[in-house]
Amino acid sequence: LFAGPVTFVKGVVAMAGLPPADRVEVCFAGRSNVGKSSLINALTGRKTLARASNTPGRTQEINYFALGESRYLVDLPGYGYAEAPVAVVAKWQALLKQYLAGRQTLRRAFVLVDSRHGIKAVDAEILKLLDRSAVTFQAVLTKVDKINRAEREAVIEQVKGALAKHPAAYPEIVVTSSEKGEGIETLRAIIATLE
Ligand code: GTP
Ligand code: MG
Repeated sequence: LFAGPVTFVKGVVAMAGLPPADRVEVCFAGRSNVGKSSLINALTGRKTLARASNTPGRTQEINYFALGESRYLVDLPGYGYAEAPVAVVAKWQALLKQYLAGRQTLRRAFVLVDSRHGIKAVDAEILKLLDRSAVTFQAVLTKVDKINRAEREAVIEQVKGALAKHPAAYPEIVVTSSEKGEGIETLRAIIATLE
């Protein structure tokens, strides 16, 4: 699946602009700067497919990428802190919530969590929304190249604890580094098996 063609489909700014719900899709959600766009680039082996940046709030639309003809990968705007005007952020946050709650073909939401920080209060609102919407979500730790063994074990425990109270949480946590490639093959396999 990931060996085949990957193409940018479109950037969506309103629910009406979503492409037809005709295939399985997975999305990448998480706080601003957590590494969503970088993870999509690592998964697809394309360095600049999704725009990644050091400036929180880089991704401001819902960006659709097609993996062959059978899957969409969806890069979402970050939530929480963003270097953008308040009104602009409010608009894309509203779209993000409508999307997460209302997309029929969304099979799994990968919720990215910075492995240096763990699950934070700002994640709670999104996790509750996913529970209410019955969208299965899976936690993906990012930037694991920045922490040591002990920190890794500690953050996994923290995330496990936080997930325990969410009925929509898929229990397996994926540990990744887009920089070093860790966990990328595991995540590809998960995406490939979703029907
Ligand atoms: P927004 O679109 O602004 O919400 O951000 P995002 O979640 O898409 O994050 P993005 O992929 O743009 O990455 C943010 C910063 O983190 C960039 O400077 C990346 O180079 C860096 N980064 C992402 N993944 C990793 C990783 O696995 N390891 C390290 N060391 N840095 C990473
Ligand atoms: Mg981004």
